[in-house]
Amino acid sequence: MPMSDPLSHPVIAVLLSRRSLGVRHLVEPGPDEAELTAMAAVALRAPDHAELVPFRFRVVRGAARERLAALFERAGRDAGKDEAVARVDGDRARRAPVTVAVVARIDLGHPLVPAHEQWIALGAALAHFLDAAHALGYAGKMLSGAKVRHPALQAAFCGPGETLVGWVALGSADAAHKSAAAAGARRAKAQPADILLPWP
Ligand SMILES: Cc1cc2nc3c(=O)[nH]c(=O)nc-3n(C[C@H](O)[C@H](O)[C@H](O)COP(=O)(O)O)c2cc1C
Repeated sequence: MPMSDPLSHPVIAVLLSRRSLGVRHLVEPGPDEAELTAMAAVALRAPDHAELVPFRFRVVRGAARERLAALFERAGRDAGKDEAVARVDGDRARRAPVTVAVVARIDLGHPLVPAHEQWIALGAALAHFLDAAHALGYAGKMLSGAKVRHPALQAAFCGPGETLVGWVALGSADAAHKSAAAAGARRAKAQPADILLPWP
């Protein structure tokens, strides 16, 4: 039965209030094992032609964060950044309570599902993963940058035929951003009328 105001539906309200929050505003705790598993379960509900599951989420937390930080610093140095700036890159991995690498597994020769449909399935899964984190009360942001193409980072996260897309930094919003994150305060985006068009 249609609701009088669909925007007030509790699930819609949660989805509408998600916003990204950068690593420097994240504090402990991040999602635990059970919560990450729930987020992965929601990601797996995203549309996925032929159920190829063309993605993996690799979880970095605890002591592994320092290893990721060292790789970020190496990528920064190799990109010509000085030691202090490279250290800031490393701090992104140290600060985030949980970092989840997003890895694509695109089958370029699939007889039924072209590559673009597999990328769409990955994007939909990523959106579900982020929405589930938000629904559980966590904040975070999907990040990439030139370092996704650094050979040492690709080797660290990817097997044959896989592509490193980037990393989701996850944690709790710090005190200064908690209310903004909860309220979904955000920059202007396109409006529904911009994308929902009658045809013909
Ligand atoms: C695959 C992917 C990679 C992204 N990489 C970056 C990035 O490196 N730096 C950045 O500031 N935003 C990046 N973004 C965008 C942010 O994750 C975020 O969507 C954007 O800041 C808008 O914020 P919102 O999610 O609150 O609308 C990326 C998004 C996607 C989907």
